[in-house]
Amino acid sequence: MSFETTYKKGSGESLVPSVMPIRIVDDRIVLLDQRKIPDSVEDFDATSLKDMCFAIKDMVVRGAPSIGVAGALGLAWEAKRLAQTGMATSVFLDRLGEARLTLESTRPTAVNLRWGLERIHALTGKENSVSAIADLMCASAEGMILEHFNINKCLSDFGAQLVGKQSGILTHCNAGSLATCGWGTALGVILSARLNGSEVTVYTAETRPRQQGMRLTAWELLQEGFEPIIVTDSMAGHLMASGKIDLVVVGADRIATNGDTANKIGTYNLAVLANYHAIPFYVAAPLSTIDPHIESGKDIPIEEREPSEVIELHGQLMAPAGVKVFNPAFDVTRANLIAAIITEAGILKAPYRTSIAEALKTLRS
Ligand code: MRU
Repeated sequence: MSFETTYKKGSGESLVPSVMPIRIVDDRIVLLDQRKIPDSVEDFDATSLKDMCFAIKDMVVRGAPSIGVAGALGLAWEAKRLAQTGMATSVFLDRLGEARLTLESTRPTAVNLRWGLERIHALTGKENSVSAIADLMCASAEGMILEHFNINKCLSDFGAQLVGKQSGILTHCNAGSLATCGWGTALGVILSARLNGSEVTVYTAETRPRQQGMRLTAWELLQEGFEPIIVTDSMAGHLMASGKIDLVVVGADRIATNGDTANKIGTYNLAVLANYHAIPFYVAAPLSTIDPHIESGKDIPIEEREPSEVIELHGQLMAPAGVKVFNPAFDVTRANLIAAIITEAGILKAPYRTSIAEALKTLRS
């Protein structure tokens, strides 16, 4: 597979992404294996339910919006498989309900997974025959890929307005095309700012323990012709104090209705530091990352992952054997530390309870 550094114009006016984490090839769901980047660029076939669950849990595919689309595709392709067995509608619906729960349990924090599954599962009521239901689910899930690209582009264009003509930007984890199904959210803002004529220097925080910033964000930015600068997570304070950072922009895994935001572990540290140094701290995310059922960050479930992620490097133990480890994969940044939330409905400002409610209303209408 080859990757181009420019985005081409499609047949319509929309841009067609060239680095995509999820593709449909010959009716198979093909994921770009994000565990392998940048060492190698390999595909992972996730057409079966079992393979898709593994892929989400093991982070072959990762990043909240990409997980949402992957889950939706996994459910739709399972519907197609079940429909081909000729089972009765009631059994089909029961099995689909079970598949949805299995997929939803793979990763708990990113609300986009629940969002994508709910949206595809709701289609069971729209057709009568199992094959018609499965066809509708597959077409809708596949359509989510381009839909996400367009949403990301739209929110990024809003976000670009917040970037000055010459800016040092710090980002964390990976909120680029890989994490979002095209263009990116936090990285999308950076791409759009460059298209707007801004000269940006991008610092990408390593993002312990899975190194999404060092491995994926640096790789994506190089694909795009940037010259990213990698820093360890612990260098952020020094970087801000030395005047190199004009703004921080990150993605999100779940946003409560009061604006509290869960994102990759270490995000909260950056938000506190940015506020201390009077540097604007922005969150860029599609509206599907807002959880309308959660009033504050206290209610956001935080995934805890294997100790080995923290204490092993390439399978080699780096800590005393048997030591205890705490490995929360996300943290919550309180809304009062966030200068703006950048969405496809525009740039939301505090008080977030009001601006988020207004934005969700535009989505419904
Ligand atoms: O554990 P990951 O790699 O799935 O976590 C991803 C992040 O925290 C991203 O910053 C977040 O999903 C935003 S992606 C637009």
